[in-house]
Amino acid sequence: MLDRVKTLRKEFDDELSTTKELRLIEELRVKYLGRKAGLANELVKMIKDVPDEQKSNFGKEANILKVYIETVLDEHKKRLEESRRDSEKAFFDITLPGVKPLLGSFHPIELVRREIEDIFLRLGYSIAEGPEAETDWNNFEALNMPPHHPARDMQDTFYLENGSVLRTHTSPVQIRTMLSKKPPIRIICPGRTFRCDWDITHTPNFYQVEGLMIDVGVSLADMKGTIDYFCRQLFSTEIITRLRPSYFPFVEPGAEVDIQCQICKGKGCRTCKNAGWLEIMGAGMVHVNVLENVGIDSEIYTGFAFGMGMDRIAMLKFGIEDTRANYEGNLRFIEQFRGLE
Ligand code: DAH
Repeated sequence: MLDRVKTLRKEFDDELSTTKELRLIEELRVKYLGRKAGLANELVKMIKDVPDEQKSNFGKEANILKVYIETVLDEHKKRLEESRRDSEKAFFDITLPGVKPLLGSFHPIELVRREIEDIFLRLGYSIAEGPEAETDWNNFEALNMPPHHPARDMQDTFYLENGSVLRTHTSPVQIRTMLSKKPPIRIICPGRTFRCDWDITHTPNFYQVEGLMIDVGVSLADMKGTIDYFCRQLFSTEIITRLRPSYFPFVEPGAEVDIQCQICKGKGCRTCKNAGWLEIMGAGMVHVNVLENVGIDSEIYTGFAFGMGMDRIAMLKFGIEDTRANYEGNLRFIEQFRGLE
């Protein structure tokens, strides 16, 4: 009976020495250790025929063989796995396509800012800047919006504990410029602005560009001419604009500037919500009160101002449907603008 243990071990060793594939190792495991038909089990069944005095010795030897088979199979499997890994490492397929790193591009709002700056620099404007946390006076009061003025409600404001505000528009840079410079003034001020808003066309952090021109004899016609030129440079030479009377406390008269929808040419479509026109900015002749607030003589000087949301311009120019995409840091969104700089 003990001979069977020995021959089984020999059979196993012989078979294992010719096994070079991982899959076959598993087959050997089933053959020798399988619950039902495994060869090691055959020994267990044989026990009943072993004479009593040899039973314990036989059992011991059978068990040693089982543990031996298990251990050797595991070791062999490990060795095969290691050698497979090594050979994979050694083989480097230079014909495989490489892993391309994700590349960014300029952000659409940055593209718009650069383009707007270029257009106005060509017209002789310079670029002015101001802080993002503003005084209430610069952001509202000097712009003809005293405390409790209902127009303040149009701009849901973040107030800071020290009494200043996160600027709700770039118009306070007009005030700063007029306080620090004498006319003639020709500036644009691009910058970050904040309002307590959140929907597909509004985010709490957004970007505006303000424009201001002050000189002797500046008229509404100058304003219209400048805005027309700007829109044609930015969108297309065929673009048609219109001024729609509107109210902003810091200008009189005030207007909203619309461009004719390029998609339907004014007929009305989904993009322009059937209006035929798309609103792109607010504008107007600088209010006498504003000039007086900054010490500019309104008997001598007149001027115009305009303000637009760069996020909105980017939406129109690039067909961005939800402005919140601008702030999600998603490379797949950003990479669509590659090559437009
Ligand atoms: N500041 C205005 C806003 O954020 C936009 C604006 C309208 C600016 C008319 C102007 C202007 O300079 O003349 O809603």
